[in-house]
Amino acid sequence: MSNSSDLKDSALEHIWFHVTPPQTLRAPGGMTIFKEGSGCYLTDIDDNTYLDAFSGGAFVTNIGHGRSEVADAMAEQARRLAYVTPYNFVAPSTIALAEKLSELTPGDLNRVFFTSGGSEAVETAMKIVKQYHWFNGDHKRTKVISRRGSYHGSTFYAMSITGASHEYNNKIFSPLVPGCVQVPSHNCYRCEYRLEYPACDVLCANMVENAILHEGPETVAAIIAEPIPSAASIYLPVDEYLPRLREIADKYGILLIIDEVINGFGRTGKMFACEHWNVTPDIMTVAKGLTSGYAPMGAAIAGPRVTERFDAVQGREAGLNHVISFGGHAAAAAAALKNIEILENEAMVQNSADMGAYLLEGLDELRKHPIVGDVRGLGLLAAVELVRDKNSRQPFGPQDQMPARVNGHLAELGVLARTYQVVEFGPPLCAGKTEIEKIVDAMEQTVTWFAKEVGIC
Ligand SMILES: Cc1ncc(COP(=O)(O)O)c(C=O)c1O
Repeated sequence: MSNSSDLKDSALEHIWFHVTPPQTLRAPGGMTIFKEGSGCYLTDIDDNTYLDAFSGGAFVTNIGHGRSEVADAMAEQARRLAYVTPYNFVAPSTIALAEKLSELTPGDLNRVFFTSGGSEAVETAMKIVKQYHWFNGDHKRTKVISRRGSYHGSTFYAMSITGASHEYNNKIFSPLVPGCVQVPSHNCYRCEYRLEYPACDVLCANMVENAILHEGPETVAAIIAEPIPSAASIYLPVDEYLPRLREIADKYGILLIIDEVINGFGRTGKMFACEHWNVTPDIMTVAKGLTSGYAPMGAAIAGPRVTERFDAVQGREAGLNHVISFGGHAAAAAAALKNIEILENEAMVQNSADMGAYLLEGLDELRKHPIVGDVRGLGLLAAVELVRDKNSRQPFGPQDQMPARVNGHLAELGVLARTYQVVEFGPPLCAGKTEIEKIVDAMEQTVTWFAKEVGIC
């Protein structure tokens, strides 16, 4: 079977695609079959080549596509030993990776629970937190505070703390995990209190403390936060925000989880985003850029406050009652090690900071356009928020079909991005000036085109 329409028919019949409904997949441009990738570029089955301005479609391929060194490292490890169970067996590649992650992550984070992806990493963090408080005799500490608009994954706990699509998830998958408390996000462009920084005195951070006091501090187990929420609109916290969360967590004996599943491994111009604000969490969750998508892998990485509590316990309960068969997979670990080596040797984290600044500078020029409400980003993680009315910040409505049309137009210009509420860009961290200029140029053309389409010029 080589014909692209036969392949599409087969895919529609046999693959249960994630999220996207079949009617969308069947529409023209609804599904693309990619056959190869190289650096920042992807080529489809019909030989069209696109600039992948979204790293494989979900901010994953940080080092770029087609790095044969990673494939070789995986193959070599798989030939020798692909897998042993993570109960009490381990391969040298997995040990080396855990050591490397302990060295790379900020502060004293130093023990790694490996998973197969980001949702499992979040799920793992939740269980670590519960067991930690249980050891302390704090059996009532079961609640988890997260932010509205956040995304933490698709498994049940991760979905329950996820703020984005909360109403939809609650309607269909109810009952969600109890004790998930959501507080306002730190989205300054769409502040729930309609306040301006700094006059707001970072009310969104103070509301975390209010929520804890309202729930009863003795019932709260953890606060979870993604420094720059990426799956939902990409907005930066003000400088006081994350340090304030750290302070609040410490004040009430609560564990702080920082979700770096997208933000991590150089995406924001530092190895981990929390380093921008000098905050070290008690547990960090990672995935995606850990292997740049060459193998499925994630991790929850804990510091001594947590691990020393576990180490002080004797008997069966001293282990975390949690097993993921593919956790610490030997060949995936070899991929992660080679991926990190490439990130470091080719200074891709610094490139993310430099090219990110260049991208933001280019996108900032679009602010003068009547439908560009906001432009924001850090490193190679950027967003352009399009609005129907700049003064009221009124978003486009369902009748405008902004996300599909804008994304489709960008793709016609050869640039793959993602558009939900905002247009999101996150190219591989090897992107150079040529790629950045192509993104800015395509976005400028698309904004002009879309404004005309909806009668705003
Ligand atoms: C911040 C964050 N956490 C967790 C996840 C879940 O990761 P995965 O899709 O690998 O399960 C995602 C996925 O986009 C994410 O953006």
